[in-house]
Amino acid sequence: MNSKPRIAVIIGSTRPTRFADAPAQWILKQAEARGDMDLELVDLRDHPLPFFDEMASNLWMPSQNPEAVRWQETVGRFDGYIFVVAEYNHSITAALKNALDQAYKEWNRKPFTAIGYGGTGATRAVEHLRGIGVELQMVSTHAAVHIGGGDFMAVHPAFGNKPISEIEASLLQSAKTALDELVWWAKATMAAKAAEA
Ligand SMILES: Cc1cc2nc3c(=O)[nH]c(=O)nc-3n(C[C@H](O)[C@H](O)[C@H](O)COP(=O)(O)O)c2cc1C
Repeated sequence: MNSKPRIAVIIGSTRPTRFADAPAQWILKQAEARGDMDLELVDLRDHPLPFFDEMASNLWMPSQNPEAVRWQETVGRFDGYIFVVAEYNHSITAALKNALDQAYKEWNRKPFTAIGYGGTGATRAVEHLRGIGVELQMVSTHAAVHIGGGDFMAVHPAFGNKPISEIEASLLQSAKTALDELVWWAKATMAAKAAEA
């Protein structure tokens, strides 16, 4: 068994002028520096999924749309996930919700954490994500990274447009805790699956 969990950093916003790349790159750098995960950036822009149009979730029958099948293969390659979460009207983006719906079995019994950003650090969106994760039989970390309030204003291109490195002092502890938990759960679920097999 590969002892290092394979972790995807999934960018949940696809709009052309998104801010998402900055937090995605920042959390990728933090995670890579640890050396205890194999990381890959997964951009929903590279997965032009239709709005869900299958007969049922792939729990019940194989999906027909080739993009959905390709997405399921991508999701299935990983042991855990770091979602990059924008808050749109107090929830996750429609693009991320659709991507979550377009797989089922591939998410099961895997952990995730999140880096959220917005006025309140996308706390409401991350809580919604956790509820969705329960239905997908996933496990959420207790900790997550939240870029909110003055920090969000400082780094968002519409306001301060500073690099995230300028506000990272207030993010590093939560990032460490969230990533520690993610690795712990990834190893635990990988070991449990290996024992079952
Ligand atoms: C449709 C829409 C809804 C939004 N709703 C919220 C919200 O509920 N809470 C919040 O903090 N920010 C909200 N915002 C502002 C976003 O936090 C901000 O635009 C952020 O840059 C979005 O992420 P993105 O640029 O990566 O797409 C909203 C933005 C959009 C476009």
